[in-house]
Amino acid sequence: MERKKYVIVMAAGSGTRMGGDMPKQFLELDGKAILRRSIEVFLAACPDVTVVTVLQEPFVGIWKNYCLTSGFHCPQVIAKGGITRFHSVRNALAKIPDGAVVAVHDGVRPLVTPELVRRMFVECEAVPALVPVVPCVDTMKVLRKENAGDGAAASLCEVEGARVDRELLYAAQTPQMFHSEVLREAYSQAYDMAFTDDASVVSAHGKKLSFTIGERFNIKITSPDDLVLAEAVVRMRKG
Ligand code: C5P
Repeated sequence: MERKKYVIVMAAGSGTRMGGDMPKQFLELDGKAILRRSIEVFLAACPDVTVVTVLQEPFVGIWKNYCLTSGFHCPQVIAKGGITRFHSVRNALAKIPDGAVVAVHDGVRPLVTPELVRRMFVECEAVPALVPVVPCVDTMKVLRKENAGDGAAASLCEVEGARVDRELLYAAQTPQMFHSEVLREAYSQAYDMAFTDDASVVSAHGKKLSFTIGERFNIKITSPDDLVLAEAVVRMRKG
């Protein structure tokens, strides 16, 4: 029997790199909140998906009000944000039963396509953990920040002998998808600062990851430059 589908949409970050008071997930991209766009992709891909939105307490009212006034009538389970992304995911998992496929998606990745989401939900029926990745196109340097002292800005220096083979490097994106009981078990581990995504939590718990090719435009909106790029992609897709 097919597993029931859930998506945890991560929107409890403070995201101040954009400037301003509003975390980036609530900023508008071509007339709609970035968070709304991120959720809408899942609804377009799988209308039967259950949406769990993770928010910090002070933003729950703001988000509910936005949904009401902007006509976004999507049923959502709200989970409380934690001190780190790890703790936020753990809170959201309490709302999800075993035996499901759960996608964990950054609320600031609104450009993922319904095609990728649909394909991943199908692929994840057969594997416990599925991660979208894109090959690294730039040459990578291993550098460390060196502080000159006297309050001068740190300069970047090569770490001697450290080289990485670009052929081996891929950037991980979201949504990452998991069998819910596998993700829950992995998240019963103690928190480690090395956990930067859900795949790293599952991998540290000894589960094998499967990979699928993601999308170049599925960017995480973290800076004003990303927003400019995202506006251009949305315009291009509108035709
Ligand atoms: O901080 P980072 O860019 O890795 O955040 C990725 C996603 O995780 C964002 O969508 C952010 O809102 C979310 N997040 C969260 N709870 C936190 C920190 C980040 O839901 N405590």
